[in-house]
Amino acid sequence: MIKVLFICLGNICRSPLAEALFNHKIKQKGYEDYLCCDSCGTSDYHIGELPDERTMASASKNGIKINHRGRQLNRTDFRDFDYLIAMDDSNILNIKQAADLHKTTVNNLFLMRSFQKNAAFSEVPDPYYGGVDGFQKVYEILDSSLDGFIESLEKNHPEIGQK
Ligand code: 4NP
Repeated sequence: MIKVLFICLGNICRSPLAEALFNHKIKQKGYEDYLCCDSCGTSDYHIGELPDERTMASASKNGIKINHRGRQLNRTDFRDFDYLIAMDDSNILNIKQAADLHKTTVNNLFLMRSFQKNAAFSEVPDPYYGGVDGFQKVYEILDSSLDGFIESLEKNHPEIGQK
């Protein structure tokens, strides 16, 4: 089983939506036996909380179910996950700092938009302090980035989907 961890700051906006969308896509493709995922935040701001209601609204508007409670990145995540996927550059910095703190190395860390074809920017923007439009934009960015990510998983792990 290949394990993917989506990471943002608060774990209530971007990464829980990435988790839900990824789950939706791998279910559609019948890859559930090969791929699984979770999400977390680098901060402790929203531990135990449901995703932001604007995230819930944009997910349900697009037919996606979200089932997640906020949690913080921890030491065992560096050991347990094959891919760490961050939303922006500050997440990358925070993740590297956490790895240092836990005296571990991190060599499987990627930016979400590095998988997006023709990406206009390198980061998934933080929608927390903006309006509802920002959440739809995040949805669209994640949707196409995840298609690219799944394509790269299919290439790098040809066993996916082969029973
Ligand atoms: P996220 O968005 O990192 O995409 O979950 C944020 C959520 C909460 C905060 C910042 C960003 N906050 O400062 O509480």
